[in-house]
Amino acid sequence: MLSGMRPTGQLHLGNYHGALKNWVALQHGYESYFFVADWHALTTGYEDTSKLQDHVREMVIDWLAAGIDPAVSTVFVQSHVPEHAELHLLLSMVTPLGWLERVPTYKDQQEQLKEKDLATYGFLGYPLLQSADILVYRPEFVPVGEDQVAHVEITREVARRFNHLFGSEPDFKKKAEAAVRLLGPQAGVYAQLRRRFQESGDQTALLEARDIVRHAPGLPDADRRRLAGYIEGLSVSILPEPQVLLTHTPKVPGLDGRKMSKSYGNTIGLREDPDSVAKKLRTMQTDPARVRRTDVGDPDKCPVWDLHKVYTDEATRAPLAAGCRSAGIGCLDCKQPLIDRIVAETQAMHERAAPYVQDPARIDAILAEGAEKARVTARATMAEVRQVMNLAPAVKA
Ligand code: TRP
Ligand code: SF4
Repeated sequence: MLSGMRPTGQLHLGNYHGALKNWVALQHGYESYFFVADWHALTTGYEDTSKLQDHVREMVIDWLAAGIDPAVSTVFVQSHVPEHAELHLLLSMVTPLGWLERVPTYKDQQEQLKEKDLATYGFLGYPLLQSADILVYRPEFVPVGEDQVAHVEITREVARRFNHLFGSEPDFKKKAEAAVRLLGPQAGVYAQLRRRFQESGDQTALLEARDIVRHAPGLPDADRRRLAGYIEGLSVSILPEPQVLLTHTPKVPGLDGRKMSKSYGNTIGLREDPDSVAKKLRTMQTDPARVRRTDVGDPDKCPVWDLHKVYTDEATRAPLAAGCRSAGIGCLDCKQPLIDRIVAETQAMHERAAPYVQDPARIDAILAEGAEKARVTARATMAEVRQVMNLAPAVKA
């Protein structure tokens, strides 16, 4: 599994509940790669790059504070692995311009970020850079939020086109059928799963069939790629199509009631210190109808309530909702249990971050090790890509 994030500096609770918390949970179930997409930051922020290094470090500290474990997951920076750029270049040769122009974020972002000149080659190509980020590791899953689904979709299309162009071979079908027989007792199950996928697009069948191929003992590599490709079509799977693992993202309001976002300046930092968190929450916007303590309120019109739903359980909330509607409690009474929860969370993050804040060399060491591990996988993919494209193999260093 692989996912990435642009380096925006210190993360806030919206980022945590939107993506990071999910990564932390997933890392124990999957072999995971998490990377900082620093080149992606340049696609919209090329004019001032002075903060880039700081932003990378701050964000990685937040990942570790949140519980990403570098002993379990591979954590690295995109620009440390030049294979992403090489694959991006090669994929650009076979990607129709129209595919990129039609990605919804292309026009949307140009309109939203009017103050920037985004009529650049790099900005148009950024979904393809993302495709290269993904495909160079050949992951099964890419956990992302709704806003990134279109990018994984184009990644699947690009992979399909690449495999079609460079994974064809004479007599593919005959060779694939011969490889099926090498599966021995699993051959029948494979054939059945393949049929199920081809007839009805059944994704579970696809994953199960891939699993059989991945774990079949003693299969030559070339046959493994043939069988992986044969599940879906009639070419060798050089770059398998990844699946979206859609992340559920709860509504996390900022202090002014709008969506929590750095650009609105309404955030609570992931490892902000307790006093500051408590102070911010005490003055956070509530139901505007509750001006005085004696005014009744409506939790459904209150941004604090949306935070409650992220942090507290039904049993805690029920009496508070009643107290709000009857003006039996004040907003500070309502906020206190929330403050306690959030402070406990940010405090724990603050403590886990401390050793890295004190000794930034530890971050550099984690990222260096992560890049080295990532490159082993990325180099293997590129060796195969170069081979099928008839490019010269890499020169031994
Ligand atoms: N485009 C993503 C974002 O803006 C970040 C990203 C870059 C990414 N490459 C990726 C996410 C590969 C998942 C997989 O948030
Ligand atoms: Fe919001 Fe709670 Fe105040 Fe009601 S009592 S307005 S839910 S903060």
